[in-house]
Amino acid sequence: MKNFALIGLAGFVAKKHVKCINQLKGNLVAALDKHDNVGFIDSIFPKCNFFKNESNFFSYVKNRNIDYVVICSPSYLHFNHIKRSLLSGSNVIVEKPPVIKFEDYKKILKLEKKTKKKCFCIFQLRLDKKLKKLKKDISQKNKNHNVNIKYFTYRGNWYFKSWKNTKNHSGGLLVNIAIHFFDILLWIFGDLKKIKITRKSESRVEGIIFLEKAIAKWIVSIEDSNNKNNGIKSKYYRIMKINKKIINFDKFNDLHLTNYKEIIKGNFHISEFVKIIKLLSVLK
Ligand SMILES: NC(=O)c1ccc[n+]([C@@H]2O[C@H](COP(=O)([O-])OP(=O)(O)OC[C@H]3O[C@@H](n4cnc5c(N)ncnc54)[C@H](O)[C@@H]3O)[C@@H](O)[C@H]2O)c1
Repeated sequence: MKNFALIGLAGFVAKKHVKCINQLKGNLVAALDKHDNVGFIDSIFPKCNFFKNESNFFSYVKNRNIDYVVICSPSYLHFNHIKRSLLSGSNVIVEKPPVIKFEDYKKILKLEKKTKKKCFCIFQLRLDKKLKKLKKDISQKNKNHNVNIKYFTYRGNWYFKSWKNTKNHSGGLLVNIAIHFFDILLWIFGDLKKIKITRKSESRVEGIIFLEKAIAKWIVSIEDSNNKNNGIKSKYYRIMKINKKIINFDKFNDLHLTNYKEIIKGNFHISEFVKIIKLLSVLK
C-alpha cells in the first residue's frame, strides 16, 4: 500500500486526488491547508493527520515513509512545496502547472539528483484516447496541419477575485487554463516556432501558434458564451478542429486516476513537460 500526504486539501482539485488515492487503495496519512473546511475527509480517510502549519506538516512527513506528497496548492506555491517535499524524502505528484518559472524547473532537476526522489505531474489530457490516437496519426505524416481551437470554459465572478486571476499567482489565463491545450499542441505537433497574441482581455485571449507540424489558431475564454452572439449555446465548449475533423475536449475531467496509474509506473516525470514549462515562461 502506498502512503500519500497532500497539500491544499480544502481546495477544488484536491477532492479528485483524494478519490484517486482511495481508488488505488493508498493511504492518505497527512494533509495541509490554511483552511479547515476539510470534513469530507472523515468518510474516506478518518485517520488522516491534518496540519495548518507548513513546518509542522513537513516535520511530520520527514522520515515517515511517505511515497508521494501530492501538491494541490495555488500554482505560485508549487516550487516551494515541491522543494520541501523532495527534501523531506518523498516523491512528488504536482498539479499543472508544475512550476511557473523555467529556472525553477532546472532547480527541481538538481534537487531530484540530491535527494534521489522524483517529481511527477498531472497533465491528464495526454491520456485522452482520441488525443493519443491523433498523436500517433500525426507522427506518421509529414505534412503541415491546420488546427483551430475554441476553448470556452465559463468562470463566474469569483474567478476575478481569486488567486487564479492574479498574474503572479497563477500565471494568468493562458498559464492557468490554456496550458491544457498548449501542452497537447506541443506534444502532438512538435516544437514551438512562434506564438502571436492577436486579441487580449482579462477574460478572453486569442492568438496563433506556429509549430513544427501545424499552425494553430486558438481562442481561450472564461466569458459566458451564451451571452455572446457567436452561435455557441453552451457555457463550456472546448473543441479542436484538425483539418476538418473535430475533437471534443469535454470528457477529460475523469482522467486523474489514469494519470495516477501512469505515475506509479514511473511515467509523467516533470522532464516530459519541459516544452510546456518553457512556453509558460513566454506566456506569463
Ligand atoms: N488538472 C486539472 O484539470 C486542474 C484543475 C483544477 C486545478 N488544477 C491545479 O490545481 C492547483 C489547485 O487548484 P484548485 O482549483 O484546487 O485551487 P483552490 O483555490 O480551490 O485550492 C487551493 C487550496 O490550497 C490551499 N492553500 C493556499 N495556500 C496554501 C498554503 N500556503 N499551504 C497549504 N495550502 C494552501 C487553499 O486554502 C485551498 O484550499 C492549481 O495549481 C491548479 O492549476 C488542475
